[in-house]
This record gives sequence, structure tokens and C-alpha cells, in this order.
Amino acid sequence: MTRLLKKLQLGVLASGRGSNLGAIARAIEDGRLAAEVRVLVCDKPEAGALDIARAAGIESRVIERKNFASRDEFESAILRALREREVEWVALAGFMRVLHKPVLSEFSGHVLNIHPSLLPAFPGLEAQRQALEHGAKISGCTVHFVDDGVDTGPIIAQRAAEVKDNDTVESLSARILEQEHDLYWRVLQWIAEGKVKTGQK
Ligand code: GRF
Repeated sequence: MTRLLKKLQLGVLASGRGSNLGAIARAIEDGRLAAEVRVLVCDKPEAGALDIARAAGIESRVIERKNFASRDEFESAILRALREREVEWVALAGFMRVLHKPVLSEFSGHVLNIHPSLLPAFPGLEAQRQALEHGAKISGCTVHFVDDGVDTGPIIAQRAAEVKDNDTVESLSARILEQEHDLYWRVLQWIAEGKVKTGQK
């Protein structure tokens, strides 16, 4: 008898294009990933991620920082959306904000991020540009637990990507993105299978 895996109840947070959300949705659709994206929370009404969610039949909520008096209220609204949809794990996929207490304490050890460098090298913005400016010969991507720092939480998995002599930010980003799309869903599936120790202290 095949044991049915309990599906990960995921909330995805994104601010931009949404290609990582798309890759996760495809892995679910193809049966590679035992998960359900319960909600996409997006802080930018013009983000491509919203179109990707629509096409994949994923519910989305737009929650903009400018509509809240404080950061705390903004993050509490995000938390409410995640709670309402009974999310258990949160995957940041190009979410361009640092999360703080409201979300991080409730989802302690259950928030993941993907970053386009081999952390701890090149945290923060424009990781691919940083890699090129430092003359790195190898870069890549990292899936890690989120803590209250910027790209500082415990690393779960990484993929390398070669940096070529004639690379531009665009060409390197595209090579790394290919790895991102093949890594994030795998890490989520390891979590669904209970193969990842949570980052909970
Ligand atoms: C990716 O490079 C991801 O690593 C970084 O932001 C980018 C998001 O891309 N955190 P997309 O919106 O998933 O296409």
C-alpha cells in the first residue's frame, strides 16, 4: 500500500516576476511536489507573480506597505492572510522585504527563501552583480531558512553555476535561475517527506 504524503500547505510571498512561483506550481501540477499553494501574498499590484498565480489557479492577495501606518501592521496583515488560508510553510520567492516578528515568530523555523548566490557570499540586493564585480568564478543559488537578518539563516541546499568571462548580469542571472527553478521544489519535497530538520531553535 502506498502511504499518502501529507501535502505541504504553502504560502508564497513574492514581489516580482514570479518565475520561482511558476516552477513550484509546475512541480505540483506534474506530481513531483506534494504541496498546495494556499495563497500568494504579493506586495506589488503590478507583479508578474499575480498573473502566474492566476494562470495556475492559485488564490492571491495584494498587501501593499503603503496602505499601513506601520511595518508591524503591514506584516500583521500578511500574517492574517497566511492564517486565513491555513498555511503551514512560507516560501519567499523574490519577496523584496525583510520579514520581522509577526510572521517570523508565528512561523518560526517554517519560512524559507531562495537567494541567487552561494551564501554567505553576496547577500542582499543584486547578488549576481556582486558576484561579477568580485570576479567570482562560481556562483549559484541557496535555499535557506529565514531568520531576522538579510539572507543569514541556516542553509538547506545550494546549486553552483559557472560564471563565464563574458557574462553580463542578465546572462549570469539566467544561468542561476535555471538552477533555482530546479532546486526550490526539491527542497520543498524533502520537507514534505520529513527529510529536513526545521530551523526551529
Ligand atoms: C530570484 O533570483 C530569487 O533568487 C531572488 O529573486 C528572484 C526572483 O525571481 N530572491 P522570480 O520573481 O521568482 O522570477
